[in-house]
Amino acid sequence: MKILAIETSCDDTCAAVLDNDKILSNIISSQTDLHSKWGGVVPDIAKRAHTERIDAVIAEALLRSKFLISNFQFLKNKEEKVNKIIEEGMKEIDVIGVTLGPGLAIALGIGVNKAKELAIKYNKKLVAVNHIEGHIWANFLKNKNGKPERNLEFPALALTVSGGHTKIILISNNQFLNQNPSVLRTAPLDEREQYLGQNTSKSPSVMPLSPLSKGEAKTQSPPTPSLTRGGIEQKPIYTVVGETLDDAAGEALDKAAKMLGLGYPGGPIIERLAQTGDKNYLDLPHPLADKKILDYSFSGLKTSFYYKVKDWPKEKIYQNLNNLAATFQNSVFETLLRKYKLAIERYQPKTLLASGGVLANLEIRKRLRKLAKEVDLPIFMPTQKKLNTDNAAMIGRVAYNKALLEEYVGDVDSLDRDPRLSLS
Ligand code: KG4
Ligand code: ZN
Repeated sequence: MKILAIETSCDDTCAAVLDNDKILSNIISSQTDLHSKWGGVVPDIAKRAHTERIDAVIAEALLRSKFLISNFQFLKNKEEKVNKIIEEGMKEIDVIGVTLGPGLAIALGIGVNKAKELAIKYNKKLVAVNHIEGHIWANFLKNKNGKPERNLEFPALALTVSGGHTKIILISNNQFLNQNPSVLRTAPLDEREQYLGQNTSKSPSVMPLSPLSKGEAKTQSPPTPSLTRGGIEQKPIYTVVGETLDDAAGEALDKAAKMLGLGYPGGPIIERLAQTGDKNYLDLPHPLADKKILDYSFSGLKTSFYYKVKDWPKEKIYQNLNNLAATFQNSVFETLLRKYKLAIERYQPKTLLASGGVLANLEIRKRLRKLAKEVDLPIFMPTQKKLNTDNAAMIGRVAYNKALLEEYVGDVDSLDRDPRLSLS
């Protein structure tokens, strides 16, 4: 099955071509240069850039996937060339996958509209994909030679950490749920703390049933029957068991970098500076540390960091950039790992998964590997740096699962972006 995937949920214009779960091409047109001088993503600029670039990025993905045999060199006009490549390339595509949400509304709209246009024009099946599910499945992408071969054993516990999201997600299947029916009855955020506080057991099978008020239970509908063909055996069921109550971890790193007058995105800059810094230079708080809940909070950490350095002379900040970066990064990572470890103890998963932009960071990867060793579990993280941050290959990987389950968009014409799309 050949899949064309499109991702425009934030500030990267992305398209990829997959042969089942193998990446044939994965094109990312980053807009970092356009947004960095504003210290963050400017929606209108993102929209314009996506609009200008989307066709060329799709054409590049189709061309690089190497299944096109025509020669397009003779076409000198760029627009004509792009259109011809798309026209020829779409003949080889079976399914189109696109990010429906969550993300920046006007950015998502460009990708969704393009996918609809191509699906209608070339009469292709369309799959709508959740961006976070994409990050999770970035761990199960293969190169052209079918490597790496990874097995997802249920239940799995995924940590997704990016600029927009910080979530601990329990991934289970039908069989697991039949044995542990109460595990999916996750309470709304405000009630979660209360009942988790009362629960002393580590076994998910005795998680107390919680009220499903406000329609907020984060569960998915019952799974459909098994599938074959090397995809997924069963529709995975996602339960968000912990998430940030305010800023995402990547966002906190970006904001701290901005405070220090560093560039955007801040995560990679902080990582570089932190390598030579003292991680105990400042004493920062441990958000929600003494509570039993699995949720995160990073805004207090950011505020405390701000008040510690706000009256410092510029030179002092400048001289200590590496120490400040190391301290802040360490606090964020310690928080991430503490809650994740708590979730592992509580849900007893068989596989650990971690992904999202922040997982491009070598320090957090090292700490996660150490944790996995301690709890004696396999951990999967994306194998290439560019599979951590936003890309379309991860969207194509979920589209492949959904195509096997025949979860196609019924009415393509009325499909609409969903900036607040939830995993359930
Ligand atoms: O997944 P992603 O590309 O986009 C979202 O879905 O948000 O993640 C972007 C986030 C940004 O906050 C960026 O600072 C962070 O990932 N990031 C990093 C690193 N590379 C990207 N954070 C820490 N260390 C890195 N090397
Ligand atoms: Zn992302």
